[in-house]
Amino acid sequence: MPKITLAPSNPESEWFGFRRVNPQDKASMVGRVFSSVAGNYDIMNDLMSGGLHRLWKDTLVRRMNPRAGQNLLDVAGGTGDVALRCHKRTNGEAKITVCDINPAMLKHGKAKALDQGVTDITWVTGDAENLPFADSSIDTYSIAFGLRNVTRIDQALREAARVLKPGGRFFCMEFSPGVTPRLKPLYEAYCVNILPLIGQFIAKDRDAYQYLAESILKFPPQAALAKRMEQAGLERAKWTDLTGGIAVIHEGWRL
Ligand SMILES: C[S@@+](CC[C@H](N)C(=O)[O-])C[C@H]1O[C@@H](n2cnc3c(N)ncnc32)[C@H](O)[C@@H]1O
Repeated sequence: MPKITLAPSNPESEWFGFRRVNPQDKASMVGRVFSSVAGNYDIMNDLMSGGLHRLWKDTLVRRMNPRAGQNLLDVAGGTGDVALRCHKRTNGEAKITVCDINPAMLKHGKAKALDQGVTDITWVTGDAENLPFADSSIDTYSIAFGLRNVTRIDQALREAARVLKPGGRFFCMEFSPGVTPRLKPLYEAYCVNILPLIGQFIAKDRDAYQYLAESILKFPPQAALAKRMEQAGLERAKWTDLTGGIAVIHEGWRL
């Protein structure tokens, strides 16, 4: 298994999976990954997680508890899984926006929503680090399996705090390197060896899935992310481990 190099300060911008890159190149490299996987993204999620991502997303949306009349923003929302769950839970009576940097992912999301008869979600191309939304305009901000892909995590967290209304809530769901010690060797072997193989045979793109797997192992552990949320102005940060810490929900408040 490749050795996992410990992160230097401000690490994410310099890492593309386990490869050291110029921070200016990272966004376009991540962009290529998601343009390549967009068509297979949903089926690959089911395969790679054994369907668990559906339960995790159900849990996330229960925790968010979206309500009619609220302004909900799902950043890095991709093919719309979280937004569609929010839509269902609010009977279409919340204002829901999906924002993602990759138009290919949004295109698949829009088509999926249409297939489900949902036409009132707004799909916006935009960067988590520079959101095209007004200050204090959002009741609930969510980002699921997205934060590890942005170049500057702290900037994305500050943007979340900026767009949230006072009293607004922040939710992040991510894979985490901080799994329980008993699961850790198995989990790391799965990420590094099995996920790229599934990517190679099903999505025909081993490199994209190698990046996705490696980026999981480079993401900040739970307590470190909570601290960075607080520093960005997302207060009372706490987290909940799901499935032994394989997935984690962080939540915080803009007070
Ligand atoms: C693993 S997918 C998650 C999609 C969806 N949230 C889900 O849970 O199924 C990550 C998404 O993050 C998006 N992304 C990556 N960098 C981004 C950025 N800087 N701003 C907004 N979206 C970004 C990608 O385009 C991709 O759609």
